[in-house]
Amino acid sequence: MNYNLAVVAGDGIGPEVMEQNIRVLDKVGKKFGHTFKYEHVLGGGCAIDKFGEPLPQNTIDVCKASDSVLLGAVGGWQWDTLPGDKRPERALLGLRGALGLYANLRPATLHEALKDACPLKPELVEGGVDIMVVRELTGGMYFGEKGRKQTDMGEAAYDVEQYSVKEVERITRTAFEIARKRKKHVTNVDKQNVLESSRLWRSVVLDVAKDYPDVELDHLYVDNASMQLIMRPTTFDVIVTGNIFGDILSDEASQMTGSIGMLPSASLGEGSLGMYEPVHGSAPDIAGQNIANPIATILSGAMLLKYSFGLQDESKIIEDAVAKVLNKGYRTGDIMSEGMKKLGCKEMADAILEEI
Ligand code: IPM
Ligand code: MN
Repeated sequence: MNYNLAVVAGDGIGPEVMEQNIRVLDKVGKKFGHTFKYEHVLGGGCAIDKFGEPLPQNTIDVCKASDSVLLGAVGGWQWDTLPGDKRPERALLGLRGALGLYANLRPATLHEALKDACPLKPELVEGGVDIMVVRELTGGMYFGEKGRKQTDMGEAAYDVEQYSVKEVERITRTAFEIARKRKKHVTNVDKQNVLESSRLWRSVVLDVAKDYPDVELDHLYVDNASMQLIMRPTTFDVIVTGNIFGDILSDEASQMTGSIGMLPSASLGEGSLGMYEPVHGSAPDIAGQNIANPIATILSGAMLLKYSFGLQDESKIIEDAVAKVLNKGYRTGDIMSEGMKKLGCKEMADAILEEI
């Protein structure tokens, strides 16, 4: 098969980890008889520098016309003082909105070989951590009405947290469908003791759950969830939650894997077009030094093959190669520990390619 991929490599370490991702995809393509064509487009700070805006229309058009989108990372200190709608992050939010990517899948898996890199006590992660955070991605206060107004306390600003039944329904279905292919356990996270939007959220989750009697469902308030994640991480399977809670909890879950440099993500909508990116940011402080960890981006490539193109074997060969390389003791700086072999960004990809 031939696949057309839009590539938004972005800023900082984005381009260098993307380069390694493409090498891995090409090798897998060669092995299984697929061709990937890449169209590189600008998004984020580099687009601001070239076109004066973070998300040019051409980038949106190319992404929409593609079979799927690969994204590196956006942002950097150069653009930190720009107003909200001109910042590099607009590229991410704009693409999520324009492509209708409402379901963000963030798997947090602790590799056996990285047990020492996990900051939790060994007994807390005994048996393995394997959590899939399903974060709603195009609603809530990220996309709700926002503005400024005068109040009797002076100037105020607001971002409205709003969810419709339909928005909650579709993300809940995504979570249950995924749970069916895993350990059949969904934990819904909300704040229904306080928020009206969460009360609607909870009632829709309970409704949708009736269609999935084979999947166990429980509920946690977000504050409690952040505690339970630390205390009993091995008991979670799928977590479904709104945009802002998911943003926060997925960072927390990421730490259990040893490094945010290990975490891939998939953003999906109604069709097969998705956007695949590492959970980490652009890390401008280490950009261009060939020391970034490319694994999160390479695993995002594996998610692309699985979720957009249904290529299970192709996806698995990448995941297995990463596991083998880690088992052999190869590490980038962020996951380095005593007695291991330290590799650069490109050399880590070389080692993964070798296993494919
Ligand atoms: C993420 C990031 C983004 C978000 C930012 C960069 C807009 O933190 O993908 O989690 O908040 O969604
Ligand atoms: Mn985030």
